[in-house]
Amino acid sequence: MAAMFRMQLLLPALVSLALIAAVAPATRTHLRFYMHDIVTAESSASPATAVRVVRGVTPLPNDPTNRFGDMYAIDDALTEGPGASSPVVGRAQGYYLFASRTDAALLLSANMLFTAGKYNGSAVAVFARDAILDAVRELPVVGGAGAFRGASGYGLLRTSTFNASSNNAVLQIDMYLDV
Ligand SMILES: *[C@@H]1O[C@H](CO)[C@@H](O)[C@H](O)[C@H]1NC(C)=O
Ligand SMILES: *[C@@H]1O[C@H](CO)[C@@H](O)[C@H](O)[C@H]1NC(C)=O
Repeated sequence: MAAMFRMQLLLPALVSLALIAAVAPATRTHLRFYMHDIVTAESSASPATAVRVVRGVTPLPNDPTNRFGDMYAIDDALTEGPGASSPVVGRAQGYYLFASRTDAALLLSANMLFTAGKYNGSAVAVFARDAILDAVRELPVVGGAGAFRGASGYGLLRTSTFNASSNNAVLQIDMYLDV
């Protein structure tokens, strides 16, 4: 009697596990694109897309420009390749904040919204510690929308070019997404 009862409880549990496995196979998508962080306008065709909206009070050690607490609102173009005239595939919209009192480390919080191609209208939400002098920074993916609804995964961010007089940078981003 007791054994039969256990059996009845166990069967539905096994069936629902099998269903979950059948309907939700995660697919991995790799996307590479470039983010143009324009702090100083380069031309009328290339306006500033990263704008300081909060000025911190504590200067960072050995850094004449940035202060702990500085915050930039961003609406950076995402392009297929690293060049300024490479086709636009989306926008990185959000902010970054100088979040360390002692290091060049940002909190980067942004939606990577795609505006062309297969993923037009879909977005990936990123919430990351971006230690800007490191060769590779990891971008935790906290979710997504559209084709990327419920996405998990991560990105790898590398500085492709940086101009120390304008503070403009081109960043290479590789996203590995499981949907
Ligand atoms: C992306 O989608 C929007 C809205 O549906 C549409 O207006 C636009 O033309 C599309 N862009 C490209 C490049 O396909
Ligand atoms: C770097 O920025 C300065 C100041 O905006 C500009 O004059 C110079 O041409 C830029 N250098 C490169 C290689 O783009």
